[in-house]
Amino acid sequence: MNLDIGTLYPKQIEFCKATNKYICYGGARGGGKSHVSRIKMCLLALNYAGIQILLLRRTLKELRENHVMQLQKLLKCNDKDARNRIAIFKETTKEFIFPNGSRIVLGYCDNEKDVLQFQGQAYEVITMEEATLFTEFQFQTLTESNRMSGNLKEEFVPRMYFTCNPGGVGHAWVKRLFIDRDYKETEEPSDYIFIPSLVFENKYIMERDPNYVKVLENLPEDRKKAMLYGDWDVFDGQFFPEFKRSVHVIEPFEIPKHWDKYIALDYGLDMFAVLFIAIDNKGQAYIYNEIHKSDLIVSEAAQTLRSYMRGEPFKRIYAPPDLWNRNRDTGKSTFEVFMNNRISLTKAGNSRESGWLAVKEWLKIKKTRHEQTGEPLEVSSIKIFSNCTNLIRCLPQLQHDEKNPNDVATEPHELTHITDALRYFCVSRVSPSKEPIKKENTFNFDVEKPSYRDWGEEIEIIWKREYLEKDMRFKKNRKSKWLNLKLRRLNLRSKRGNYGDNYINRCNWVTDAQFV
Ligand SMILES: Nc1ncnc2c1ncn2[C@@H]1O[C@H](COP(=O)(O)OP(=O)(O)OP(=O)(O)O)[C@@H](O)[C@H]1O
Ligand SMILES: [Mg+2]
Repeated sequence: MNLDIGTLYPKQIEFCKATNKYICYGGARGGGKSHVSRIKMCLLALNYAGIQILLLRRTLKELRENHVMQLQKLLKCNDKDARNRIAIFKETTKEFIFPNGSRIVLGYCDNEKDVLQFQGQAYEVITMEEATLFTEFQFQTLTESNRMSGNLKEEFVPRMYFTCNPGGVGHAWVKRLFIDRDYKETEEPSDYIFIPSLVFENKYIMERDPNYVKVLENLPEDRKKAMLYGDWDVFDGQFFPEFKRSVHVIEPFEIPKHWDKYIALDYGLDMFAVLFIAIDNKGQAYIYNEIHKSDLIVSEAAQTLRSYMRGEPFKRIYAPPDLWNRNRDTGKSTFEVFMNNRISLTKAGNSRESGWLAVKEWLKIKKTRHEQTGEPLEVSSIKIFSNCTNLIRCLPQLQHDEKNPNDVATEPHELTHITDALRYFCVSRVSPSKEPIKKENTFNFDVEKPSYRDWGEEIEIIWKREYLEKDMRFKKNRKSKWLNLKLRRLNLRSKRGNYGDNYINRCNWVTDAQFV
């Protein structure tokens, strides 16, 4: 009973020898990735009695065409002489069972949520074939199942193998982890290894099918770069290639009180997606929080939002215009239900194409230099706090719509809610926050302060202005003398030293004044 692995090429041997937690063999087409991944799975199954291996592709059809037959042949499942059979194949459960108790289970995830079927299961080894066709959510969910199954008696550190080409819905997460090596604090860089693959290294193809290289050479330029040379930087389907974790994602900090805050949301029963955004004095946007919850009826969504708002003031709450449509059964619109919960929505522009362009504009990376050190810097007008995990996950995964390259593909649908909320914010007009007016501690306003509600500094200043205005009506002919006196009593001083001739100027001047 011998496993005939033939001759492996150097990169394939490197793949087989790697023992990191996440091993990715990727790049150009035809390098021999699937071939060696099948061999590696069989070697593991034979060497580690009882090991549980999950081999995944996106669809059942791909699984059948790329692995079932080839594995049956490699493992001699259909050999007439049963003694030569290395493993048996169970069609109903799609698994190869080895006499030593090891198993290679074949699986597929047609839809985003199909991956949940593997939750709660345990595999020491998981192989994702064509990993860039899987979403980050699927990858993350699978990592939960990558653990000791209890059947393997030997010591073994669970690991995952990936094979892939650039492009596809998972391009961004694979590129981040294995090419850009742009890690979160919770990720250990040494866990990840990337082995680049090129068709030229596959002697079998180069000798027996040299035309295959010509086929790749004739592809459109960008696709050729990706599929022939394994270039990961080529724009291939990703709608926001400008998104770069190292530039756009930052660690949370406390938002200064005087920054204006906005909310942008998208509501559907399948997902209530909300972004909380603060704008600094220069107009830089910080997305500091998010809500991403499914199965909330409108009133629950409104209550959830209220609880996140914690009584803070928000300048605008942008929402798509379809929330103003009346529900046929209740006669009420989503907008009205939010109003009943004391949340006033503002209609955002809903043109998809110009909306996505606006998002691109906000995300655009500009090169500059550090003010003090002079070091080159990359900046963008929008920053996302690292706690907004859903936005950070969905944004780079958005793909171009196949029929309209200026639009985003609406599949996988799960990715589109929070990114739509971002679009509603980006098409809306926001202005930089105003610097707060400085106030001296000893400032005494007791005498003149009427019984106004305390609305904070800004309104207080307006009140002072109104107060002055009201008083001035009676003291028209003694304006300047009166105002000087008043200012002195209020302990106000103008930066400019004098005030304009007319009434409005004077009012503006008073609001511009600083407490000293
Ligand atoms: N070491 C090898 N010895 C013999 N044949 C090989 C070897 N490596 C790969 N091949 C053959 O080369 C062909 C292409 O290999 P494979 O399908 O594994 O490439 P791939 O990198 O997975 O391609 P794709 O990028 O299209 O998925 C297959 O017919 C495979 O059997
Ligand atoms: Mg392959």
